[in-house]
Amino acid sequence: MSKITIEGQHLLSGEVNISGAKNSAVALLPAAVLSNKKSVIYNVPEIKDIDYLIKIMELLNCKIEQKDNNLYIDNSEMINIPIPEELSVQMRASYYFMGALLAKYGKVEISFPGGCNIGARPIDIHIKSFEELGAKVEILKNRYIITADNLVGKTIYFDFPSVGATINVMLAATGAKGTTIIENAAMEPEIVNVASFLINMGIKVRGAGTKRIEIDGTKKTKNGVVEVFPDRIESGTYIIIGALLGENLKIKGIIKEHLEALLFKLEEIGIEYEIEGDTMTISKCNNLKATNIKTLVFPGFPTDLQQPMTTLLTQAKGISVIEETIYENRFKNTYDLNRMGAITNIVTLNKLEIKGPRKLKGTKVIATDLRGGASLLIAGLIADGITEIDNCEYILRGYSHITTKLRSIGAKIEITE
Ligand code: UD1
Repeated sequence: MSKITIEGQHLLSGEVNISGAKNSAVALLPAAVLSNKKSVIYNVPEIKDIDYLIKIMELLNCKIEQKDNNLYIDNSEMINIPIPEELSVQMRASYYFMGALLAKYGKVEISFPGGCNIGARPIDIHIKSFEELGAKVEILKNRYIITADNLVGKTIYFDFPSVGATINVMLAATGAKGTTIIENAAMEPEIVNVASFLINMGIKVRGAGTKRIEIDGTKKTKNGVVEVFPDRIESGTYIIIGALLGENLKIKGIIKEHLEALLFKLEEIGIEYEIEGDTMTISKCNNLKATNIKTLVFPGFPTDLQQPMTTLLTQAKGISVIEETIYENRFKNTYDLNRMGAITNIVTLNKLEIKGPRKLKGTKVIATDLRGGASLLIAGLIADGITEIDNCEYILRGYSHITTKLRSIGAKIEITE
């Protein structure tokens, strides 16, 4: 187990570059198996989830070359074999092989996907949709065996606009005869990123980024090229860090339209920033005001920034309230935040009150999930003294080179085995 050690209260200046989006990249790799032979994915973040996805693809006999942050994938000798549990449980996104392999081969065998323990996280919408397209789904212990002689396109209505289900059904629908329509689809930028890859392969996808997506199935794909969008959650995390500790800190790789909900909230609590082109300049802001936040699907406030934002709100004057509507167990970080001196209170299962401003003190804490770990890391950066974060593998799953990036702008932060 690795540990991150932080000496807090150092101001941060210089420039930090945002990496490719984790949640796009983890879908684009499985999507690459749909290309005729070869594909290129540019700007892939260097995170653990990508390493595991590459291992799965190599097991399927895809040849993968990594140069800088680009992946060159050749699947001309690809085979379809069951994906073993030790790989699929490493991350949630392994479930995208369900849609992709089902479309390509009409069969997929995979164990239940993993991911952060932040609630029940069922995949019933994915499964029901595969069945609606004509697949048969068997579940043996924790193994899914999904088969289809013929997938047939149809209109599918989602009870909830799930990000994962939208992407997975888009992938499966590429192998269906005719047109599949997803109604009440998720609208997150990651979906647009995946759709642009499919379109580049010659698959007709209309409406990605809206509530209604149409996919015309075809097995006649071309080679595909795509660039991973900058990570909006990593961007948001560094923006929050900049608002707490920046000294004209520059954050490069910002897509403003992907961050509107966060930026609106930051302005509300009194944070000033400038954006020029793709670069934000931000400095430490004093006199922050409390606010209320409700996490929602895109373009609402992203649940993945809720925990980093909680740390910011410990520094705001008054009582802030956060309502988490996407997951039922996403306040675990508050236990350690309180041990560091914050005053947060879980009022009901999905409602958190934060009383500020509070001076935080460094101590030993444990990351319980990816974004909760990021919240503790931010707390460590602003705290007086030394913070040690155990289980920091969670943080490394989602933030490319986080300690190196932070050191380059002046943080005193180290990672040790
Ligand atoms: C993706 C992101 C994750 C982010 C989330 C919401 C990846 C790899 N992960 O997760 O970082 O927090 O979007 O923005 O891209 N649900 C069901 N049944 C389903 C599917 C989802 O009940 O079949 C529920 C989930 O339990 C959860 C909610 O819907 O409570 C959101 O899930 P979803 O949008 O699917 O998120 P993920 O794709 O898992």
